[in-house]
Amino acid sequence: MRIFVADHPLVAHKLTALRDERTDSPTFRQLADELVTLLAYEATRDVRTEPFTVRTPVAEATGVKLATPKPLVVPILRAGLGMLEGMMRLLPTAEVGFLGMVRDENTLTASTYAQRLPDDLSGRQCYVLDPMLATGGTLGAAANFLIERGADHITAICLLAAPEGVARLEQDLADTSVPVTVVTAAMDERLNEKGYIVPGLGDAGDRLYG
Ligand code: PRP
Repeated sequence: MRIFVADHPLVAHKLTALRDERTDSPTFRQLADELVTLLAYEATRDVRTEPFTVRTPVAEATGVKLATPKPLVVPILRAGLGMLEGMMRLLPTAEVGFLGMVRDENTLTASTYAQRLPDDLSGRQCYVLDPMLATGGTLGAAANFLIERGADHITAICLLAAPEGVARLEQDLADTSVPVTVVTAAMDERLNEKGYIVPGLGDAGDRLYG
C-alpha cells in the first residue's frame, strides 16, 4: 500500500481552515470541495489513458483520452458525499457508485448499510472518497468489497489520516495483490480514546451535514 501526503501550501491553508472549530457548515462544505479537487489532481496521476489523435487547425496531434472501462468514483456515505463534486470536477465522465457505511461509535466497527455498485468491477480503477481514515475499519472494508468484485486498482482520497488507521489498512489488505494508494491532505498524530483523529477536524459528517 502506498501513502501520498499532499505537500502544497494551498492544501495546508484549506485544511487549517477546515480544522478550525469556528468554520460553519456552508464554509466547511466549500473548503472540502476545493481541497478534494487539489487532492484529486494528485490521486489521478496514474489514471489509465489510451492514445488519441486529434486534428488541430494546423496539424495532427497525438494525445490521450481516458481509457475504457471508465474509472469508478465511490463516495462512502455519508461524509464522502461532500467530496463527490470536487472529484467529478476533474473526472466528469467517471461512473459513480455508492457505498453506505457507518462506524459504531462504541465498538468502532464499520458495517455496510447500502450499496449501489456495478456487480462486475473487473479491470476497473476505483477512486474511494472518505474524509477520515481513523481506525481504518471503514476504508479496509470498502477496499476489500471493491476487490472482491474485481477492482484491480484502488485509490482512496482522504482529508485526514491517522497512523493507526494506516497500519490497520495495511493489515486488512495484506493478502491482496491489487495496488492500493491513499492520498491525504495530512497525516495527523494519533487517535484518541473515542477513535477520533487528533488534532483532526472533529466529525466530518456532522460538520458537513449537521
Ligand atoms: C466516519 C468517517 C469515515 C469513518 C472513519 O464516518 O466519515 O467514513 O467514520 O472511521 P474508521 O476509519 O475508524 O472506520 P461515520 O461512521 O461517522 O459515518 P458518516 O459519514 O455517516 O458520518
